[in-house]
Amino acid sequence: MSHAEDTGSRRDFLYVATASAGAVATGAAVWPLINQMNPSADVQALASIDVDVDGLEPGAQLTVKWRGKPVFVRRRTADEIETGRAQDVSALPDGASRNANVDSDADASDKNRTLDEAGEWLVMMGVCTHLGCVPLGDGAGDFGGWFCPCHGSHYDTAGRIRKGPAPENLPVPVASFTSDTVIKLG
Ligand code: FES
Repeated sequence: MSHAEDTGSRRDFLYVATASAGAVATGAAVWPLINQMNPSADVQALASIDVDVDGLEPGAQLTVKWRGKPVFVRRRTADEIETGRAQDVSALPDGASRNANVDSDADASDKNRTLDEAGEWLVMMGVCTHLGCVPLGDGAGDFGGWFCPCHGSHYDTAGRIRKGPAPENLPVPVASFTSDTVIKLG
């Protein structure tokens, strides 16, 4: 990596950190713990992690760091599920599911975005698909989902891009429930 690239990536990281500070109240308390648990950057880069979601109520969200990036784990409210499911897929800017857990040609319908049949659990990389800032959550933006303040991208309650320069829906990483209260990433 050249010096210029190195400087750029560090600056970008600081910018991302600033953009996300205070955005996710529950996430802020979780970060130090998760960081302590990570033995080293190289192990962290490869590993799967378990996320304990016990006690996460509908309408609450965790942000965990995985493979060096934030991941949003949200337990959606009934309203968020209903809004997500009512959306006409053909009207979406990005019609692809962007979900590593379903067929690659699956569409972006709400049921293809969530981890469970009922649609309560949404797990996504917390990285804007425009230039990589961390979007604000908890109902932010014009579509009740996430909002990226860097250049104004609005994501809906299923993390699908609806307005702004971001080209794709927030990606859903490989994830699964390993028990009633634990989600494994990777
Ligand atoms: S990085 Fe999110 S809108 Fe540009």
